[in-house]
Amino acid sequence: MNLRISSFDEYKTAYEKSTHEPEAFWEEIADTFTWQTKWKNTLSWEFNTPNVKWFEGGKLNITENLLDRHLPERADQVAFHWEPNNPNEAGKQITYGELHEEVCKLSNGLKELGVGKGDRVCIYMPMVIESVVVILACARIGAIHSIVFAGFSSQALADRINDAEAKLVLTADGLNRGGKKVDLKTMVDEAISKCPSVQHVVVLDCINSNPTLNEKDIWYHELISNQSEFCIAEEMDSEDLLFILYTSGSTGKPKGVVHTCGGYMVYTAYSFQNVFQYQEGDVFWCTADIGWITGHSYIVYGPLLSGATSVIFEGIPTFPDPGRFWQVCEKYKVNQFYTAPTAIRSLMGAGLEYVQPYDLSKLKVIGSVGEPINEEAWQWYYKNIGNEKCPVVDTWWQTETGGIMISGLGDLSPMNPTHAGYPLPGIQPVLLDNEGNEIGDNEVEGYLCMKFPWPSILRTTYGDHERCKNVYFSNYDGYYFTGDGAKRDKNGMYRIIGRVDDVINVSGHRFGTAEIEDAINTNEYAIESAVVGYPHDIKGQGIYAFVVVDGGLKDDDEAIIESISVSVSQMIGKIAKPDKIQLVSGLPKTRSGKIMRRILRKIAEGERTNFGDTSTLLDPSVVEEIIDRAL
Ligand code: PRX
Repeated sequence: MNLRISSFDEYKTAYEKSTHEPEAFWEEIADTFTWQTKWKNTLSWEFNTPNVKWFEGGKLNITENLLDRHLPERADQVAFHWEPNNPNEAGKQITYGELHEEVCKLSNGLKELGVGKGDRVCIYMPMVIESVVVILACARIGAIHSIVFAGFSSQALADRINDAEAKLVLTADGLNRGGKKVDLKTMVDEAISKCPSVQHVVVLDCINSNPTLNEKDIWYHELISNQSEFCIAEEMDSEDLLFILYTSGSTGKPKGVVHTCGGYMVYTAYSFQNVFQYQEGDVFWCTADIGWITGHSYIVYGPLLSGATSVIFEGIPTFPDPGRFWQVCEKYKVNQFYTAPTAIRSLMGAGLEYVQPYDLSKLKVIGSVGEPINEEAWQWYYKNIGNEKCPVVDTWWQTETGGIMISGLGDLSPMNPTHAGYPLPGIQPVLLDNEGNEIGDNEVEGYLCMKFPWPSILRTTYGDHERCKNVYFSNYDGYYFTGDGAKRDKNGMYRIIGRVDDVINVSGHRFGTAEIEDAINTNEYAIESAVVGYPHDIKGQGIYAFVVVDGGLKDDDEAIIESISVSVSQMIGKIAKPDKIQLVSGLPKTRSGKIMRRILRKIAEGERTNFGDTSTLLDPSVVEEIIDRAL
C-alpha cells in the first residue's frame, strides 16, 4: 500500500483535488484497504447536529487491515522492537506473524470472558508489547477500547470506567518508570470498587510483584494459554465505534471522544505515510505513551496499517541519563523520530555531551507534537538531532481530529520554525474573527476552525452528543472549532498560537482549569480556587493555583499546600499537580461574582502593575494582597 505523495507539486495537486472533489479524493485512498463489503456512500455530513458519516455501508475490521493483509509478505517482518526501561535488560521483538497470533489468542480469551461487539473495555497498561496486543484484540472482536493513561489516579480511572460503563479492565501488576516501579494493580482495585459495570480484570504480570488476585481478576498469561491462534475478525460497519479516548475541555469532567472504524483507519494510515514519508524498511519511533491519542494513531494504528516497523519504548527520556533517546535511536537505526517539545527542551538543557556519543545519521525526519515548539527548541532539534539534514515536522492536531492535520510532509514542504505549516490534502482550515468572519492571509490571529469534514473527525462525545455539539460545533455556525488560536502568513503557512479556551497544555498534556479546580476544591481546607496556566521553560505551561482557604491564611501554609497538592494527585494524577499553589484570602471578582481570570493570568505570568481595566472589581484590595504574596 502506498499512499505517499512524493513532491511538493504533487502535494499541491492533491490539495486541489481534495477540496474540489473530496469524495473522489478519499475514495481513491480508501480503496487501497481491505473491505469485507465496499461502502455505498462516501460521505454524508452536516456540522449542526453534528452528523458525519464516512464510507457508509462499508464493512471491515481494522485488524484485518493491519495484520492479516500484511501476512503474505510481512509475517516475518518485525512490527515492534520493544526497548525496556532499563538499558541493561534485553529488549524484545514481535513480528507481524507473531502479533497476529497473540492478538487472536487474546481475542479468543476475551470472548471467553463474555466480551463482544460493542462492549466497552478499559485499558490501563504500561508501554509493553502486550498493550498493543490488548488494543488490537478489542478491535478484532469489535469491543470498544478506552485507554486510560497509566499516570492517572484511581479516581480518574474510575470516572472514565463509569462514564463508558466498561465491562472489563485490562491492566498489569505494575510498571517500570525510570528508577521506580509503579503499582498499577492497587490503583485498579481501588477504582473498580466504585465501578459496578466491571465484571473482570485481566492482569499482565509485568514487574513480577506477585499481587493478590481478587475474585474478578484473572492473569493475562492464564487467559491466553490454550487459546487458538486463530480468531475470525468481527465484521464492523465503517461507522461502528472503534474507541473512546477521554480528553479535557474547558468545562466539566473529561469527555469521551469517539472515533469510528473506517474513517480513522483511512486517515491514520494516510497521514502517517505522508507526514513521516515512511518508506519500506524504515524504522519509525514515536515516543508518546499509548494512553494519549499520539500513541493510538502513531504507535499503533498508523504504522501497523502501513506495514511499518516501529520502536516501542517503556522508559523515560532521562533515565538512566538524558542520552537515552539518542542511544535508542542509534541502537535501532531509527529513521523517523517523533516526540514532544517538552522532551526536547528538557534534553536540550542537559547539554550536547548526551547527544554527541550517538550515531544519529540514520534519521531522515524528526517530528514534534503536542504544543507549540518554540524557536530555540526547534533550532536545537534541527541542528543537533537532525544534523541540519532532517526536516522538522511540526505536527498540529488533536485527540478530536484523530490524525495530523497541519504539518510539513517529510522533506517535501518548505519549513519555517515555529510554523506547523500547511494543511494535509483533505483538510480545510480557516481562521475566524470574533464575529465568525473568515480572516485572509494577513498574519492576524484568529480562531482555528475546519470547514469540511475529514475521515477521522470525532463523531460524538460518548453518551452526550449535545456536549459534542456545544463544545465543537456551536461557537461558529457550520464550522468545527478547535479551541486553538492561530495565524497564517502570506504563504499560507499556519502558526499555532495556543488554546483560546480554559484548557492548559502542560508538557503536551491537556487539562481543563475547571477540572483542576474541582480537584482542589475537594480538599478540606479549600473553599474556592482559580487555576491558570503560565509560561514554563520546560513544560510549555505550568499550573498556577490560587486557593482560598478556610479561616483565612494560616501559619502552617506548607502543610496545607502539600495537602492540596495531594488532593489533585488523588483526583486526577500526579501529572496535574500544580507547580505553584498560592493561598489567598479572596479571589478578584466582579460585582456580579465572576472571577477575573485575566488578572490572575497576568499575576501568574509575572505582571505586577499593569492589569488594564479593573473598574469592575468588587474589592481591589484582594488583588494587592495576591500581588504581595505572588510566587
Ligand atoms: O493546543 C493544541 C496543542 O494540543 C492540543 C491538542 O491536545 P491533545 O488532544 O491532547 O492532542 C495532543 C497530540 C495531538 C491542540 O488543541 N497542539 C498539538 N500539537 C500542536 C499543538 N500546538 C501547537 N503546535 C502543535 N504542533
